[in-house]
Amino acid sequence: MRITGSIKETRDQVKEWKAAGLSVALVPTMGYLHEGHRSLIDRARKENDKVVVSIFVNPMQFGPNEDLDAYPRDLDRDAKICEDGGVDLIFHPEVEEMYGPDFCGYVDMHTLPEKLCGASRPVHFRGVQTVVTKLFHIIPAHKAYFGQKDAQQLAIIRRMVIDLDFDIEIIGCPIIREDDGLAKSSRNTYLSAEERAQAVILNQSLDAAMDAIEAGETDATKVKQIITDTLNTCPLAKIDYVEVTSFDTIQPIEKVEGAVLIAIAVYIGTTRLIDNRIIL
Ligand code: PAF
Repeated sequence: MRITGSIKETRDQVKEWKAAGLSVALVPTMGYLHEGHRSLIDRARKENDKVVVSIFVNPMQFGPNEDLDAYPRDLDRDAKICEDGGVDLIFHPEVEEMYGPDFCGYVDMHTLPEKLCGASRPVHFRGVQTVVTKLFHIIPAHKAYFGQKDAQQLAIIRRMVIDLDFDIEIIGCPIIREDDGLAKSSRNTYLSAEERAQAVILNQSLDAAMDAIEAGETDATKVKQIITDTLNTCPLAKIDYVEVTSFDTIQPIEKVEGAVLIAIAVYIGTTRLIDNRIIL
């Protein structure tokens, strides 16, 4: 497995593989890999000849008061996980390699980024779209693999690929959970033992909503109330948002029908966690 921070070396290698007729996958990450990332790597490995993992904590997608400096980093550990997963190349650039001193080329989008996480993280999705665009140019893979935990990110990237004619297939992969149901996240490492125990409430509140929907509830307001009531039973949980939206447009809906995204963001102590259910 090769590890490089060079855009040129990475692009040349991917072009060489493609010229030899090999299929190439990209798994974009910010590192501190967990089983969720590993599941993306495994799927990419199964479906392609070559797998590239990018590891880059992208400063552009963090707001001024967010956790950029605290975000966990451990390249040696990540490299071991990638090696075990059969990854061929890790692209691990410095910030200066990605964003030169005169950088001013952003990729942005209307409507999809405005709600949910975009409402409380105003610069986040512009940063995600910009870095993912750059990664797609640096690593012109056939397929790119993203987790469904970041459902709004997945919807935005799918839309971006259609609207801007990227020649890459976007594969959304299921959320991987701890045994008690908490969605795996690099940010779970911030939780104290007490917070970790209470964080399971996110998944439980979504289970309660799905139970109601399976029993015939279609009123989005009632579904949101079930989630809110469940979350409010947890003393450490502070709701950022509870939303029922169209999965395609990320706009709120009144009736649960068609492709639906039920998405929540909740602070457990000072750690902001997200989770969701997608109904297709
Ligand atoms: O999901 C992530 O880890 C990041 O948002 C991504 C897609 C790697 C872009 O920095």
